[in-house]
Amino acid sequence: RDYYASRGLGDVYKRQIINCGSLNLDYVYSVDHMVQKGETLSSISMETFCGGKGLNQSIALCKSGISVYHAGRVGRTNGDMLLKMLEDVGVNTDFVSIVEEETGHAIIQRNLAGDNCILLYGGANIGIEKPWIDELSSHFEAGDYLLLQNEISNLPYIMEKAIDAGVHIILNPSPMDQQVLDCPIKQVDYIILNEIEAAEICGLVRKIKDEQLARKLAESFPNTKVILTLGEKGALYLEKGNIIRQESFHVPVVDTTAAGDTFTGYFFGSILSGMKPETALQRAAKAAAIAVTKKGAAPSIPEALEVDGFFSE
Ligand code: RIB
Repeated sequence: RDYYASRGLGDVYKRQIINCGSLNLDYVYSVDHMVQKGETLSSISMETFCGGKGLNQSIALCKSGISVYHAGRVGRTNGDMLLKMLEDVGVNTDFVSIVEEETGHAIIQRNLAGDNCILLYGGANIGIEKPWIDELSSHFEAGDYLLLQNEISNLPYIMEKAIDAGVHIILNPSPMDQQVLDCPIKQVDYIILNEIEAAEICGLVRKIKDEQLARKLAESFPNTKVILTLGEKGALYLEKGNIIRQESFHVPVVDTTAAGDTFTGYFFGSILSGMKPETALQRAAKAAAIAVTKKGAAPSIPEALEVDGFFSE
């Protein structure tokens, strides 16, 4: 807290964002290559980590220095580890329901280059129904920020409730599927997505250059600020026709899982702390670079002290 206060970062007692998103147990299998069609492959090791795009982004937001409420659902029998991780970091879990269904999980293959393949089991994350959303949205206040990804059910309904309440929406439409296309995307304040997701949202069949793609998104969603993530090529931020480019920092890769979530959390945590987009982009890129040097999803997300000191010499 002292560190955050000394840097003029968020007031840890004031709610700055609600993140309604998935909480997963990540079963990570280390493999020498990704299993192929028809192949049976022995893994080298298996580890269990806290994950889920929702949980990862809440942790990154909170570590970046703002006050976060996570909303979502975990199973009574095996959700403790996830709740504990959020609470240990300082995320408020008042809006996380403990339910009888199974906690969501992900089966992740991680190869020797640190790349991954992820298979999701939605479990409790996709048991989010309209009455639960009605209850959550009764706590929305005009001017709040709501962060959403696409690993939960009834995403369009949550967005409609947020819009009705005058809440600012940040959308990370990942993983992309029809549910995203059914959302009132034109009304979101910020959209953060990768090139594949962007091409799909814009209905493109042919690959176009990254800056063109960012401009195409801005044309389709004129009231939305766009952040296009480009993996090892960095990221682009586009607002009112102006593009800011951020290169990525090159580091030895151990595990790329949650690098995107770390970028998202640090970018918006920094924006909501009052930083300029160029500063927020640089901070997010540093945080993501540190995350890929460590194993696991949530455990790889660095503290602000490490991020702000990174490469500073
Ligand atoms: O973005 C990484 C996350 O995607 C993993 O933690 C996994 O749970 C899936 O949600």
